[in-house]
Amino acid sequence: MSRSFFAALMGTLALAAGSAAAQSVDWHFNGGPGGQHYTPLKQITADNVQQLKPVWKFDFEPGGLQAQPLMIGRMLYGATPSGKLVALDAATGVLQWTFDPAIPGGQPIRGLVSHGTGAKMRLLFGTQNYLYALDGVTGKPIASFGRNGRIDMNENLRGPADKNGMFLTSPGSVYKDLYIASGRVSESTPASPGDIRAFDVHTGTVRWTFHTIPHPGEVGAETWPKDAHLTQGGANAWTGSVVDIKRGIVFLATGSAADDFYGAARHGSNRFASSLIALDAKSGKRIWDFQAVHHDIWDMDFSAPPVLLTVMKNGRKIDAVAASNKLSYVYAFERATGKPLFPIREVAVPPSTVPGEVAWPTQPVPTLPRPLSRTSVSLNDLTTRTVAANIWARGVFSRLNGGGKQFAPMTIGKDTLVLAGFTGGVEWGGMAADPKGILYANVTNTAGISSIIESSSLLTAGLGEGTYRNQCASCHGVDRKGSPPLFPSLEDVKVNLSDADITAVIKNGRGRMAAFGGLPANTVANVVSYLATGKDLPGTERPPISLQGRLAPSQTQYTSTGNRNFVDPDGYPGVKPPWGTLNAIDMSTGQYLWTVPFGVTGKMGPEFGGSNTGGAVITGSGLMFIGATADRKLHAYDTKTGKLLWETTLTAPAQATPAVYAVDGRQYVVIAGSARAGRAMGQDNSQAITDGRPAGGYFAFALPR
Ligand code: HEC
Repeated sequence: MSRSFFAALMGTLALAAGSAAAQSVDWHFNGGPGGQHYTPLKQITADNVQQLKPVWKFDFEPGGLQAQPLMIGRMLYGATPSGKLVALDAATGVLQWTFDPAIPGGQPIRGLVSHGTGAKMRLLFGTQNYLYALDGVTGKPIASFGRNGRIDMNENLRGPADKNGMFLTSPGSVYKDLYIASGRVSESTPASPGDIRAFDVHTGTVRWTFHTIPHPGEVGAETWPKDAHLTQGGANAWTGSVVDIKRGIVFLATGSAADDFYGAARHGSNRFASSLIALDAKSGKRIWDFQAVHHDIWDMDFSAPPVLLTVMKNGRKIDAVAASNKLSYVYAFERATGKPLFPIREVAVPPSTVPGEVAWPTQPVPTLPRPLSRTSVSLNDLTTRTVAANIWARGVFSRLNGGGKQFAPMTIGKDTLVLAGFTGGVEWGGMAADPKGILYANVTNTAGISSIIESSSLLTAGLGEGTYRNQCASCHGVDRKGSPPLFPSLEDVKVNLSDADITAVIKNGRGRMAAFGGLPANTVANVVSYLATGKDLPGTERPPISLQGRLAPSQTQYTSTGNRNFVDPDGYPGVKPPWGTLNAIDMSTGQYLWTVPFGVTGKMGPEFGGSNTGGAVITGSGLMFIGATADRKLHAYDTKTGKLLWETTLTAPAQATPAVYAVDGRQYVVIAGSARAGRAMGQDNSQAITDGRPAGGYFAFALPR
């Protein structure tokens, strides 16, 4: 047990005992190195949580923010939407200092970590492709780290760094004097490899590298083409990592290899992609690894960091690690050996019909726990929200490739359902675990839909038409004729609407059409031009390769027609609710303790649930604090029953994980709420000002004194 954790625990005991002593209990990223999202604090309970009151709000600029702050001593450190780091008095929210790296770019920042204590404490803060080491007291870059206080993740990394490279969207882990990092890379070719690297926290030099795309002679190289280490990318742990400090093991969970949806250039099982990997934290040597998707052609990443927990099996305590992915399975293993807690079966899956593609013949499926979300869709699972929606869904279903089954390879010319959705299952907020081995997961339970298309058809079509085919044709038809009255024809759209009107419909949505707030302005302009003239705007340049790999043509022969949600003409999921849930699983038995609907969708009631992003925090008094829903709410649940005990409405949605800590004997719950947070939410895109103040900020709650 580390000293700071022990100190924290003593503080907690004092708080729990109602001691008058001024006690502080820190909050580290995701609750600490094991990523449990847990605090032993007990001041706020099921009995008094109703009395929680806002105590301060720190305003920040408009923009999306997914970040979770740290609380060390009595200082709260948190990112802002434009990539600044602020230090606040954790009890009052009063600004102490601001660090502004002034690095442009739109990559999310999910948090930061620290190293050392007291006057020697340094903050390791990743923004875009840079990692900064900052003095924890002053917020000034530490000049002896890297080049004037920062390192560039693209140095010592193979790849077209000018175009994409690696971004630190989720913070890495600290083990002794190492910062262990992976990051986000492009999901379409050309992409950088997802190398996992340990940097010296004092100097910033690389101390070890683990190649997730193995080099010749390294374990797993035979599962990739011979030159894959020079040509292939992805297989990156973009969600961060957790460390078993006692054993010195770091666990990372990776996403799929690039291209997400077409693997002709990477025949083989592609070991270490879409995998859970255990490495010796000191040396980077592989201890064990488990691949959740062989030769992933669905983008079914491990979409959250792993979590450490301890379970009981046959009267024996087992230190375990659990992880979950977009397929919505929960995989659990003995930490030291990689032995699964519950058997995992290899099941036969269908072959691909796309030229050049060789789908892997089998895929692993855990026997327990049962999946968090729907993993297949039958006629019975289709929406019955309205008669018209059900008729529409049956129509789509009858034309599907793959029969609504997970692991059905996508095909050309016909849509395939992708389960549990491109943002389905757990997301980057991750799962929480309590000391009893109970795992808590908030998940989205809808379906994705897509197909494969020849990249050249997008290339020759140009960006406007390409984007139209990607994003709009599923409803308005490739021929722009739509299917009135449900989907209007856009053939004569210029007769009634000006360019500005069309732009507004695309950006804000209208009626039953969802907003496309995420499309860059020049892409929107091209689509508008294409609708009006059948051509792209003259002289428009293609934007750089999109990180999501959706809006720019891929360099591979085939690509997908986009990550679309399977939604009905009114914009609601094409499957039955609940569309989002909160779950508690006893990982000693693999059985669910409870599941409740979670999230909101449009105008539907809470029993429908909805897409949600952002993680939970569990407290020693059996509460769960979680934002994550699109309706701007922060909630408290009873961890024993799943009962909603308290909620409050913020001025902006909190698609982030809270920090729960104590200062001077008082327990605080702090969460970032921001306009434009999170993809796939789309519900509250306002940059609203409330009472003359920006909507977004860090919101702090505590019991009245
Ligand atoms: C999920 C289905 C869906 C998708 C995808 C979609 N739309 Fe729509 N769109 C609709 C529906 C439904 C309407 C009618 C909205 C209303 O007024 O109720 C509509 C209306 C419109 C209108 C207004 C038409 C008029 O005559 O008033 C325009 C313009 C438009 N869409 C453009 C686009 C563009 C461009 C895209 C791609 C970026 C797109 N749509 C993607 C469903 C969709």
